[in-house]
Amino acid sequence: MTKSVSIISSAAVIVALVASCTGAEVYKDPSAPVGKRVEDLLSRMTREEKIWQVTQWTYGKNMNENNVEKETKAVSPYVGSILFRSTNPAYYNMVQRKAVEESRLGIPMICGFDAIHGYRTIFPIPLAQACSWDTDLVEKSCSVTAAESRRSGVFWTFSPMVDVARDSRWGRVAEGYGEDPYLSGVMGAAAVRGYQGESLDSDNSIAACLKHFAGYAYSQGGRDYQYTEISSQSLWETVLPPFEAGVKAGAATVMSSFNDISGTPASASPYLLTEVLRDKWNFDGFVVSDWGSVEQLQSQGVAATPAEACEKAIEAGLDMDMVDDVYLDNLDSLITSGAVSEKVLDEAVRRILMVKFRLGLFEKPYIEELPEEERWLLPEYRTLARNLAAETFVLLENKDEVLPLGKKPGKIALLGPLADNAYDLMGSWNGQGDSSDVVTILDGLVSEYGRNSVKYVRGCPFEGNDRSGFSAAKAAVRSCDVAVLCMGERMKWSGENASRASLALPQIQEDFIREIASCGKPVVVLISSGRPVELSRIAERADALMAIWQPGTEGGNAVADVLSGKVNPSGKLAITFPYSSEQQPSFYNQRRSARPFMGHYQDIPKTPAYEFGYGLSYTDFEYGEIRVNAEGENFVAEVDVTNIGPADGSETVLWFISDHYASISRPVKELKHFEKQFIPAGESRTFRFEIEPGQHLSYPDSNGDMVLEKGTFSVIAGGHSADFELKLPYRIDRTQKQTKTI
Ligand code: GLC
Repeated sequence: MTKSVSIISSAAVIVALVASCTGAEVYKDPSAPVGKRVEDLLSRMTREEKIWQVTQWTYGKNMNENNVEKETKAVSPYVGSILFRSTNPAYYNMVQRKAVEESRLGIPMICGFDAIHGYRTIFPIPLAQACSWDTDLVEKSCSVTAAESRRSGVFWTFSPMVDVARDSRWGRVAEGYGEDPYLSGVMGAAAVRGYQGESLDSDNSIAACLKHFAGYAYSQGGRDYQYTEISSQSLWETVLPPFEAGVKAGAATVMSSFNDISGTPASASPYLLTEVLRDKWNFDGFVVSDWGSVEQLQSQGVAATPAEACEKAIEAGLDMDMVDDVYLDNLDSLITSGAVSEKVLDEAVRRILMVKFRLGLFEKPYIEELPEEERWLLPEYRTLARNLAAETFVLLENKDEVLPLGKKPGKIALLGPLADNAYDLMGSWNGQGDSSDVVTILDGLVSEYGRNSVKYVRGCPFEGNDRSGFSAAKAAVRSCDVAVLCMGERMKWSGENASRASLALPQIQEDFIREIASCGKPVVVLISSGRPVELSRIAERADALMAIWQPGTEGGNAVADVLSGKVNPSGKLAITFPYSSEQQPSFYNQRRSARPFMGHYQDIPKTPAYEFGYGLSYTDFEYGEIRVNAEGENFVAEVDVTNIGPADGSETVLWFISDHYASISRPVKELKHFEKQFIPAGESRTFRFEIEPGQHLSYPDSNGDMVLEKGTFSVIAGGHSADFELKLPYRIDRTQKQTKTI
């Protein structure tokens, strides 16, 4: 198969022409059932046209004006999908017109792009979003991303990433929702709802893509793209639940991952892509490979040739080949030789066409060529970005209530490499984000307090040994009332292929913090990062310490809102901050140990710096005792939380279940529910967790079948715990999943 615009072979065209002349063209009838439209169109396609449908190219990388004509000419009218990097509707329509008007059957392309946490309005990185525990804002941010994307020709985003990450040396921890399977699933499902809306053919909807299926975050040692060792039990207990939640939420697509699972690459795994995804979960969308992951099967040593890689991938259930042309170059000969049945190709094409019809691409392939100001960064989008960012910040230390700064903090010495920095505040995978849109922390504080109240001195680089700025910074601190230090990571230090052996910030940053602390003024340290970093030594020097992650376009305003006290921080960690890099992997829901109080490293503390779920507020919340009552076959747990502090605030109650004894060793506790409520100062609210044994007390066995066993359980919230007994026989809710009792 040639890679240029393909000339469909004459015999096939005759066959197809006959087919396409027989009977009404149902596929063009919007009133016809989608299934019938798919089958009618499929019956008219030649093999070559089908092979183009399962092929994705990338386009628009070089959108230099005088390259567009050449680039557009290079795009085949038959290619099924484009990884579309341009933001210009006119270019999109030009490319789509080729597919719709120049190809024989007029099948539109589906254009995809990595709008991971925003398209042009950049929201906080997903790891930060998880720390907000606000699924409503997360969903809204994804619906804004969908609207901005589709207005620029992107009908499909390669998001949400729901890889459960427990080794923060892995740079892609930034892109997911942290260490917990349940939280990752809830956030991933919210993202799917946000992207896809009520109907995929809405002008504000795009197809979501659950990735990376599956097990990518287990890359050995946190080193990207490395092999993994994942037991079937861990696969079902930890790795797969967020993907199942995303499928249940209706995700239209899934992306297969680069990694293997204990030797079988995900992109060639019939178990994952067919038995689990299709047979067990009834997933009805399509699977796209990750970038080149079909071709890479050769590097992984499971395919000697591209043809073998092609055969293994498509037979496993991988429907679309991202940018390596392995399907384009090999499927025709594999089918001709009988190695691959054309029925396998038909099934892949069927799934892709189904999503295209559902997106409304056949009725509305083109988009309105709106001016930029009508396509993105609308004021309400910025407001949403600002509000979400403020909710993602996690207050880690606040000695002597040095925060909030209030309305009149006096003079602020604003220091550090992230103080007047737009680019790094956006975080990795920042879509079409533009640093010129970003409100820096300097901008935000000046806007809040006025230019005369903020004295900015960078003072310290991200790394290296240039300490020449220290003295000017210290002088500024001496002339001010409080120092705010903006420290942390460059954007490039996390994200793809950004594994780091050490979680410590560069020494120069720690030295700078120590020097500034010696000036004797209150020190507020803000940490902007794409991952947990080593904070124990910094916490000793800081009066206040807050993780602001990579907050995106409105980051500076969000920082000003929280530092001033206009917004009371409510973030809680979705990932553990280990004491040090050596304490990796560290996560809260460890499986029970034979000797829980032994076996820790002798040379560092056995507890993390800040654990999963940790986060302070400007007020204090007091938890009452947990009440647990049986209600029929369920249990209801309740706890009263009182705001006993000086400020209104929001509190998220994390409900955990601990299964004391089971047929296999279970994690010490597992998050099963959470709820966030606003509680005015002096008032109380009751939080309630309805425990359904089939859903909340069962666990998957190594085949993914749910097991429910009698025994003693604890329900835990806010450091309080209450035990209860589950006695069987217990009627099992068959709608949940086939469960068996032991
Ligand atoms: C990358 C990433 C994946 C992304 C894809 C397309 O290599 O692994 O997350 O969606 O390629 O850019």
